Amino acid sequence: MLNKDYVDLSDHDSFKNGVPHQTFEWLRENDPVHWTKEKNGRGFWSVTCHKDILSANGNNSVFSSAKGIRIEDQTREEYLARRTFQETDPPEHRITRKMLAPAFSQKAISSYENMIRELAELIVIKSLKSLEFDAVELIAKQLPMMMLGRILGLPDSDLEWLIKKGDALIGNSDPEFTNDIVDKLEKNQYRFMPFRSPAAIELYDYAEKIMQKKITIHPNGVLSKVLDSNKDQKIMENHEFKNFFCLLIAAGNDTTRYSIAMALYLIANNPKLLSDLKTNDHWDTAPDEFIRLASPTMYFRRTATCDTALGNAEIKKNDKVILWFVSGNRDKSVFRNPHQAILSRNPNPHVSFGQGGVHFCLGIWLARMEVKVLLQELSKKIQSIKALDEPTWTRSNFICGVKSLNVRINT
Ligand code: HEM
Repeated sequence: MLNKDYVDLSDHDSFKNGVPHQTFEWLRENDPVHWTKEKNGRGFWSVTCHKDILSANGNNSVFSSAKGIRIEDQTREEYLARRTFQETDPPEHRITRKMLAPAFSQKAISSYENMIRELAELIVIKSLKSLEFDAVELIAKQLPMMMLGRILGLPDSDLEWLIKKGDALIGNSDPEFTNDIVDKLEKNQYRFMPFRSPAAIELYDYAEKIMQKKITIHPNGVLSKVLDSNKDQKIMENHEFKNFFCLLIAAGNDTTRYSIAMALYLIANNPKLLSDLKTNDHWDTAPDEFIRLASPTMYFRRTATCDTALGNAEIKKNDKVILWFVSGNRDKSVFRNPHQAILSRNPNPHVSFGQGGVHFCLGIWLARMEVKVLLQELSKKIQSIKALDEPTWTRSNFICGVKSLNVRINT
């Protein structure tokens, strides 16, 4: 029997004022693998405890990514048109992952530290020209696409446009980011496009121009490397390259922005966090603690390849299984005071990056570095930061983010 704290997890509106943590708490306590009805779908299992999430995520032969990774049902044709290597299982998944991994390794990313720091310092100095402003717009939003642009090898002049398109893709259920709201579309509209978003049509055109060399990309960037390897050994068909491009623009933009935004939100509501950061004692652990609490991609989906049991549930072949990372990250059996930011938390076995699965985030080192360096540069230059009002949140049950946060800063 569901209680009053339960809200419909299939409804984007349930998340428009922030994550319904009380629902996840209730589920973890009472029905950790919960059959969740869906207004416009066949229903899904909600996996909410840390241990069950790890167990399913580590078993891709039973919990497959190859039938879609978001809640929405897809026909086989839609799946094939939209998929990237993220929607495949091993061994197929390994081919692209292996090709991309070196460019995103800890070593490769650490070579960008000086560049990230220069950009972060510029962003902070520019934002501090006024003392009251929207910290998401002026601080959190700026760095991720600048850095992604450099790593992919994209021209700086296109980055503003790419941010808008990335927002429309991943914020496909939020009227502030798109006019084509995914849960209000006609049944068949855009069903062959990534995220069912018309922004993907424009990103497809952009990717096509890259392939035809009508847009000049840096020869050392990841995109050039992918296209070069593709010449020797066909790893991606042209439409797969376009989907892959959309994936990178979506994955590398909002997730890191919302991690930084969550850090700013927490600091702006708890002055002790800023003084703790200023001691410089917590830089090895604080970024992951902010990313745990941010949990920007709240879930990824798997599909059962056979009848199986998970926790208390009997799962049937082809059932959709949603791994709610956002819930696992606040499981009190793993995290002491789970809703509190403890900057020295160590170990911190959060699952924001999908740890424990073969798809764990490729951008993990980049995201950690960006969060750390930006907060280092900011905390050096300010004495206090205070929230002026409540933040606004994305309307989405997939991506969790503080969309705006008005703050007053003292330098
Ligand atoms: C704090 C920031 C980020 C978070 C929370 C995050 C979260 C995730 C998660 C949970 C997954 C696993 C998906 C699954 O299990 O199906 C993933 C995969 C992925 N992420 Fe991230 N991500 C972040 C930043 C980035 C950045 C900066 C990039 C850079 C381009 C990136 C690129 C990718 C890619 C390409 C995959 C697919 C990997 C695969 O399928 O093997 N992410 N991310």
